[in-house]
Amino acid sequence: MDAQPLIHMDGISRYYTMGDHRVIALDSVSIDIMRNEYVAFIGSSGSGKSTMMNIMGCLERPSAGEYVLNERNVGDLSENDLARIRNQEIGFIFQSFNLLTRATALRNVMQPLIYRGMGLAEREQKAMQALRRVDLIDRADHMPNQLSGGQRQRVAIARALVTEPSILLADEPTGNLDSDTTRNIMKLFDELYADGQTLIVVTHEPDIAGHCRRVIELSDGKVKHDYKNDVHTD
Ligand SMILES: Nc1ncnc2c1ncn2[C@@H]1O[C@H](COP(=O)(O)OP(=O)(O)OP(=O)(O)O)[C@@H](O)[C@H]1O
Ligand SMILES: [Mg+2]
Repeated sequence: MDAQPLIHMDGISRYYTMGDHRVIALDSVSIDIMRNEYVAFIGSSGSGKSTMMNIMGCLERPSAGEYVLNERNVGDLSENDLARIRNQEIGFIFQSFNLLTRATALRNVMQPLIYRGMGLAEREQKAMQALRRVDLIDRADHMPNQLSGGQRQRVAIARALVTEPSILLADEPTGNLDSDTTRNIMKLFDELYADGQTLIVVTHEPDIAGHCRRVIELSDGKVKHDYKNDVHTD
């Protein structure tokens, strides 16, 4: 077993200056997340969940504190290095899917591989493999507007998986989906976790958090609770 945490945060704070006052979005948060954890971040609106996700995903820099991602101190990295780390380590999944609307499902999934210096045939082959993983091989040539909401989110999950990231980071992934489709997406997350994937899910829905093995509750930018979840698998 690898004893090093995949995510190590020590005293992470994030401030925003608004005119003459300061909004504290995260207030000295210290957490470790190990490989193959399945973690939910919960908390009320404004508690800092998305800020947390943006910092974990290297989309934003903390104002203070140390963030070590997969044994690399993120604070020392240039913007270019950060972009490379994001591409290598993180698969993002958003509530609004964020697909390229003028590209087929296949093209969308191939897109993150462009930065890998990989030939077209290999990119296509890897993207088809990822589409197979989310059970969408028969929709590869569809445009996003020819897909249902759940299918669009599965394309986004395939796009997140295609680079084989160390972490899947999802912010309200089922926020735009009905309950049946939500169950379907959560079943896929459960399977990915069983296959060894590390998953971090930001949600305000208790049903979603109920799938995760660990729940971290934020309140006013601080960790209020951090507990293990008993999940019954059938
Ligand atoms: N770019 C920004 N500029 C100023 N303040 C911000 C910015 N982004 C977030 N904040 C503030 O930081 C706090 C945390 O915001 P964050 O988006 O992380 O909350 P959240 O838990 O994701 O909420 P929600 O459940 O509504 O998505 C809020 O008070 C918010 O107003
Ligand atoms: Mg949010």
